Amino acid sequence: MLQKTAPSRYTGPIAKGDVHPHTLVDRGFASDEALAALLDRYPAELFDINLYDYDDDGQSRLRTGARGRLSGAELLEAIKQGRLWVNLRSVEQGWPELWQAAMGELATIQARYPGLKAVRNAGQLILSSPKARVPYHFDAAGVVLFHLRGRKRVFVYPGDELHLPEIAMEQVVARQTTEEVPYSRSFEADAQVVDLEPGQALTWPFYAPHRVENLDRFCVSLSMDFQTWPTRFRNGALYANAVARARRHQPRSTDTLGTVGLAARWAASLAFRKLKLMPDQIARFERDFEPEVGALDGAGSINSRS
Ligand SMILES: [Fe+2]
Repeated sequence: MLQKTAPSRYTGPIAKGDVHPHTLVDRGFASDEALAALLDRYPAELFDINLYDYDDDGQSRLRTGARGRLSGAELLEAIKQGRLWVNLRSVEQGWPELWQAAMGELATIQARYPGLKAVRNAGQLILSSPKARVPYHFDAAGVVLFHLRGRKRVFVYPGDELHLPEIAMEQVVARQTTEEVPYSRSFEADAQVVDLEPGQALTWPFYAPHRVENLDRFCVSLSMDFQTWPTRFRNGALYANAVARARRHQPRSTDTLGTVGLAARWAASLAFRKLKLMPDQIARFERDFEPEVGALDGAGSINSRS
């Protein structure tokens, strides 16, 4: 594992990718039976079904799937056979038992970082195919990735201007684009690489860009993201800067702002959001496919089943 020295902006109390043990696997949350039953009952509107294609330079293209009509057991099989990345959003509502257990684990992890205080948490359960990969992106939040099943390799990069341009952050926070930021293969030399096994949880510096490769196994992880007051202020300031930039102003980098300046911009962002000054550009996607057992990549035609 490489230790990185490049300056990251706004790391918060977590200075690098750290692995922590957790007990969620032992409690049976990742068994086939539990997952198939979950998929059967999970609300269709809380599914994100993604399929990423990559070119030779590592640039990605996203296709999105509809929930479709497969039973939970069939959908599980399609994921195991395919190249799908299925996110079940809002686990806090969709699987309260898992969520409660994970919040207990978070308390243990949080206690290891003086000054870390999550003020809002949300989670998504990720079921992904043996060969699935998630492209380079960042989350405008802290993240704990509880790994429950399979093996995955996580690449964590410095959150500096080279790897995470602030203008790109503004665009993501203001929902003018998806969570992707510019990626170059040359970044690989700067990555901290962590192989995750079931029973391990990974956390990394706030906002640090990352990407994930599954290591030839069907994978199950719970991704918990959380806000702290500093990340709230920071996200608000990024949003306010996006609004200013859209009006041809040249806002100060949030890196140069102290807590008072960040808090003032956060307060402004709340007003801007209310006024809907930055229309959400991430419109509802047209869905490209439905999961299908035996189809290439697990992605069947969306029209063939109607
Ligand atoms: Fe992420």
